[in-house]
Amino acid sequence: MVAKTYVVTGASRGIGLSTTELLLSQGHLVHGTFNDSRDEAARLQSEHERLQFHQVDFTQIGALDRLVEELRGIELDGLVNNAGIFEPDGFDEWSFETWQDVFTVNLTAPIRLTMELKDQFNERASIVNVASLDGMVGSFASMAYSASKAALINATLTLGNNFAKPPRSIRVNAISPGWINTSMATPESFQATEITPLGRNGTSEEVAELICFLLSDGASFINGANIVIDGGFGNVDYIMLQESKSAGAD
Ligand code: NAI
Repeated sequence: MVAKTYVVTGASRGIGLSTTELLLSQGHLVHGTFNDSRDEAARLQSEHERLQFHQVDFTQIGALDRLVEELRGIELDGLVNNAGIFEPDGFDEWSFETWQDVFTVNLTAPIRLTMELKDQFNERASIVNVASLDGMVGSFASMAYSASKAALINATLTLGNNFAKPPRSIRVNAISPGWINTSMATPESFQATEITPLGRNGTSEEVAELICFLLSDGASFINGANIVIDGGFGNVDYIMLQESKSAGAD
């Protein structure tokens, strides 16, 4: 396999770390970003000579520009816009500050990074935006998170339409994970195991497999898609599940 060069945001833990480790194991080069996990990033970088870490906090003015400057001139085969934040703030306690931070990290950063790096992508590069199943439903206490992910799914369509034109032939796709066991998991999220047909939550390694497939030439005709990875959770009508249990059908 020819070694390729990828940028992965939020690469020091969770889904971003699993994606980075899988890409490195495939022989690729990764420019990863971390926010506050400085020690972890230093440890990982010392273990992998094909991994270069960059510190960035997307909520800080000028941080994304500095990252773009650090990546300037590097030919890229792909970008994984993975970094994201979930800030439940209660519907009645809606805060403009939280709204702005969540949109800055979950929507503006992926779009700006994609657009700022657009002339550095090789032909047939691939961009993956990590959205969420929450972007496809209404929320209760995290309107900013759901709305930002919904917007990211929609922006993926526009990016896919425009970047795909030959000769660039760059594919842009979104993925929408359901409940995945990472540091973003909450005590409530483990209740999803009772509803998910596969009977468990997902792992960051499983999501990384999907991301790396979309980055690869194996996904050469997949563009502008939003691929759900949720073990079937999103297909379940909770009431129908309860009815089936009452009827003894499970
Ligand atoms: P995580 O909390 O382990 O990782 C989030 C990553 O985002 C971290 O690497 C962190 O450094 C980075 N990040 C956070 N704030 C940042 C900031 N201000 N500036 C720059 N980077 C920042 O969580 P996880 O689960 O690995 O999340 C990865 C992506 O997957 C996120 O976009 C998340 O919304 C999405 N996702 C996760 C789900 C889950 O159940 N864990 C479900 C659906 C989507």
